[in-house]
Amino acid sequence: MPSPWTPAAWRAKPALQMPDYPNAAALAAVEQRLAAFPPLVFAGEARDLTAQLARAAEGKAFLLQGGDCAESFAEFKADNIRDTFKVLLQMTVVLMYGAGLPVVKVGRLAGQFAKPRSANTEEQGGISLPAYRGDIINKMEFTPEARRPDPERMVEAYFRAASTLNLLRAFALGGYADLHKVHKWNLDFVKDSPAGARYEALAANIDSALIFMEACGITAESVPQVKEASFFTSHEALLLPYEQALTRRDSLTGDWYDCSAHMLWIGDRTRQPDGAHVEFLRGVHNPLGLKCGPTTKTDELLRLIDILNPGNVPGRLTLIARMGADQVEKTLPPLVRAVKREGRKVVWSCDPMHGNTIKAANGFKTRAFDRILKEVRGFFGVHHGEGTHAGGVHFEMTGQDVTECVGGAREIRESDLSDRYHTHCDPRLNGSQALELAFLIAEQLKAERTARGFEVKAAE
Ligand code: PEP
Ligand code: CO
Repeated sequence: MPSPWTPAAWRAKPALQMPDYPNAAALAAVEQRLAAFPPLVFAGEARDLTAQLARAAEGKAFLLQGGDCAESFAEFKADNIRDTFKVLLQMTVVLMYGAGLPVVKVGRLAGQFAKPRSANTEEQGGISLPAYRGDIINKMEFTPEARRPDPERMVEAYFRAASTLNLLRAFALGGYADLHKVHKWNLDFVKDSPAGARYEALAANIDSALIFMEACGITAESVPQVKEASFFTSHEALLLPYEQALTRRDSLTGDWYDCSAHMLWIGDRTRQPDGAHVEFLRGVHNPLGLKCGPTTKTDELLRLIDILNPGNVPGRLTLIARMGADQVEKTLPPLVRAVKREGRKVVWSCDPMHGNTIKAANGFKTRAFDRILKEVRGFFGVHHGEGTHAGGVHFEMTGQDVTECVGGAREIRESDLSDRYHTHCDPRLNGSQALELAFLIAEQLKAERTARGFEVKAAE
């Protein structure tokens, strides 16, 4: 039997990827201040997301999770938040329209500030400094002052997350996500791409469908889903002092929730069954994600599922596979098979980003669109073979016209990477690459539904 859970129990376990704060008193003071701040999300919203994800676990919905690799304080602008939201809405209608499934929308937004790193230090010109760990911890500049972990940055991250969330809620509920505005979500630079043109055609079909539905009496007034979107936030629960400080007991149920976001996930580097991150997350009632990499062993995965979802509650746990395009067909099937055999209810989601990161000849960290697509195809193929539902995708993307991933219909080359390379960590898909991928996924999903004998309602 595991010992009783408390929000602080993780402190007795080994915690990887945590910064060394030089001033323990300053850290404790920040934790106390954060603990007195209002929660960013409400437990009832997290339960609503669990219920939506339960449908994805049953094969009746699809999860779209996407946003920045690392949100940065410098890129904290209304236009950036709006444009990422727009592209996520576009991807949603493409998936819904193509596959005839409801899409659960979750942003890597409003709190995705902490990054795990492969090395604790970084060397430049013979000097070694602590690695940059995300804006919630230290600054990217290569100076000793900038790289010193500063707990005050947690307070700053909290307020930035709060105002990002405020804007997202306004967009989702204030009329911006109204299906009558599908054309307006097509960003100028996306419009000129092949995916943008394909999207315009689809949006015109949606217009006709809305006119038809209105003639039948189905309007935005009678069915609020026409003018409102449900949109949730998520991030990697890496910086545990911050997560603990925002953990509150829900007054309605008495359960604990980490109120820094609706959904939290455990990264590939911090998923040790006896480690601090697993210990912390097992006790909060939010829906959880768990990254599964090529090194994840079947017995370890089953043990983690037991710890994180002992009640086998559908929607509680999303397994996010990030195997790499060449590995997915080999490493994923044993895991999918074991989870199915043991009757564990999970959402299987595909992160085709983190197993496919390479260094270009000119030194830029990049990902090739074709490799990303290959991993998505492989993921769908595995689920097809096992008779399970490919339940979602997890992307690093932005609404901006960046040049960070190579390939796509616009054929970004390695020599283009320096043009608009703005990420604070890993390379993201730009708006048109993300939309292109959504069309390709919609086709896979439609094929899956046809193969599983569902009626595909979408018209071509
Ligand atoms: C991430 O999602 O940004 C990340 C670091 O992924 P992973 O833990 O799978 O490497
Ligand atoms: Co990343």
